[in-house]
Amino acid sequence: MARILLGVSGGIAAYKALELVRLATKGGHAVRVIQTPTAQRFVGAASFAALTGAPVLDSEFERDPSRGAFPDQPAPHHDPLSHLELVRNADVLLVAPASANTIAKLAHGLADNLLTSAALAATCPVLVAPAMNNHMYEHPATQANLRLLRERGVTVVEPGTGALGSKHEWGIGRLAEPAELLAAVEAVVPAGARPWDGLKVLVTAGGTREPIDSVRFVGNRSSGRMGFALAEEAAALGADVTVIAAHVALPRRPGVRYVDVGTAAELQAACEAEFPACDVLLMAAAVADFRPVAPAADKIKKSGRQELRLELEPTQDILSLLSGQRTPRQVVVGFAAEHGGGAVAYGRDKLARKGLDAVVVNDIARADIGFEAPDNEVTILTRDDERHVPRGTKAEVARAVLDAVDALRPAPAPGTGA
Ligand code: CTP
Repeated sequence: MARILLGVSGGIAAYKALELVRLATKGGHAVRVIQTPTAQRFVGAASFAALTGAPVLDSEFERDPSRGAFPDQPAPHHDPLSHLELVRNADVLLVAPASANTIAKLAHGLADNLLTSAALAATCPVLVAPAMNNHMYEHPATQANLRLLRERGVTVVEPGTGALGSKHEWGIGRLAEPAELLAAVEAVVPAGARPWDGLKVLVTAGGTREPIDSVRFVGNRSSGRMGFALAEEAAALGADVTVIAAHVALPRRPGVRYVDVGTAAELQAACEAEFPACDVLLMAAAVADFRPVAPAADKIKKSGRQELRLELEPTQDILSLLSGQRTPRQVVVGFAAEHGGGAVAYGRDKLARKGLDAVVVNDIARADIGFEAPDNEVTILTRDDERHVPRGTKAEVARAVLDAVDALRPAPAPGTGA
């Protein structure tokens, strides 16, 4: 968890700052927002206040009802100076969107509103995410101001190129996407500020495909949504996340490392390379249990055939293999896709048979959850507990799985301070 002070300056992209706040609070961060007076002409304070659960300020002369405290902190007994107290409490200051005007003020040390005064008083890492018209962005004055800021240690989160706010305008100047902004913030948050900082999490996601010939395969319906949600939530808690992805066509989160694989054998090789360094394994991939014995190198022709028989051989059970190599400090979680009645009993059997710390069971007989669906509903089994997680988005379910993992994590070894 980090305390993020978000400075919103004037620009059409101010609406994207709302999504950033939503992602950041969902990821467990405490957020306070300062708006410039111009920013309030684009997006109202009420939306930021509702999403952060804290008052939004825009003036040095306005009393802060929270007295400079973030949502996770008690307010002090005295009324501090807002522009000093907010940055003193913050782990990071992000200005997004940063208009050309605010960038110029920051570069030259002007302190004419609460945001610029706070920025001048900031001793924490400062990030600036420009958003403006391409001509304004490319203007030598703006470029010189950004150079000055970079030279002073400010991180500039580069804008993207594409359609701009006003009709028919196209070029560089689009505010970086909210997920990218959050990843940039999390990259500079001091180590140890978030609950899973330093923890190495390995996630497998998607479904393997076993070739029959050069174009056909034996596959399954896994979309990778659950695995990707687990990876995103673990990254939001501060973990260093690697995803081994088998055929997943979903957006990728900046800050997470992805290793793409195709077959069960490739997934196994990637897992064997990554597993020894990980603290937590979340084995969400749907791995083929069988593969064609002799895949054809080219395309099998149907002409002249009455039938085509496929001979299949079992693949290695990767999860059992890895759990056999585990150290006591590693948490190993399996997933069980089961049909209807007896799902929990099958899951329990898997927990014992594969030597796991937890099994996440979901009922694939239901069309509204599981494969390809945005929602899921699971039961998390551990050796001495069983927790039903009601239907929710895969992100919500992922969070419940990570809570269970947190409870399973071994206590830090004495003297490590970890
Ligand atoms: N798994 C694996 N390697 C395989 C097959 C499965 O690592 N070759 C992992 C999956 O990623 C999942 C767990 O094992 O985390 C459960 O997979 P499942 O196929 O349901 O287990 P089985 O023991 O094969 O049980 P079943 O008889 O139900 O297929």
